[in-house]
Amino acid sequence: MGRIKVAPSLLAADFSKLAQEIKKVEEAGAEWLHLDVMDGVFVPNISFGPCVISCLRGISEMYFDVHLMITEPIRYIEDYKKAGADGITVHYEACSDVRATLTAIRELGVRAGLSVKPDTPVSEIEEYLPLCDTVLIMTVEPGFGGQKLIARTVSKIGEVRALLQKHGLSAEIEADGGISAANVSELISEGLTVAVAGSAVFRAEDPTAAVAAISGVE
Ligand code: DX5
Ligand code: ZN
Repeated sequence: MGRIKVAPSLLAADFSKLAQEIKKVEEAGAEWLHLDVMDGVFVPNISFGPCVISCLRGISEMYFDVHLMITEPIRYIEDYKKAGADGITVHYEACSDVRATLTAIRELGVRAGLSVKPDTPVSEIEEYLPLCDTVLIMTVEPGFGGQKLIARTVSKIGEVRALLQKHGLSAEIEADGGISAANVSELISEGLTVAVAGSAVFRAEDPTAAVAAISGVE
């Protein structure tokens, strides 16, 4: 099995020492840093915004994978680009104009991602796949870290892979929520290319071993 990318979710870090926490996962071998932005409207929780991300940009070279769990994200895309996002992922369910939102992200030179919640069928985003650099399958209800992966979401990864193949497209296939070394192999066999992992990396005794195990290296 090939090695996939691991994107530790900063939500599981100790917020009193973010710089040290980021260094820790960078040294552990993670390529992407997953940054969960929540507005208290699209999801019932509030996290952090562009000011925090822009401070972190100064201390890390990692790929900043910004996951916007906010209503009408098109309003803030430029702010997150300025803050240092390498990729911006928006929710299908949060956009009144998905096409315009993904196009606006790409026009800023940022990689565009589209995410679906557990109950949203992948067929609903088929028409937007040509505008996606990343497709993010939520494997938990968005809003909180530390939840258990919802088993029925796993086959959606394979469905995305099939749709991308059908249209001759290539995009990263990312999953988010409740992922650990114990369950990642079934996601990898469905076609996963990027695994988001919060608790499983930041709370690990040995983060290097955790990143290696989640990336599919035995
Ligand atoms: C949930 C977030 C996830 C979450 C992942 O809304 O999008 O990124 O923090 O954390 P774990 O891996 O702990 O489920
Ligand atoms: Zn996330």
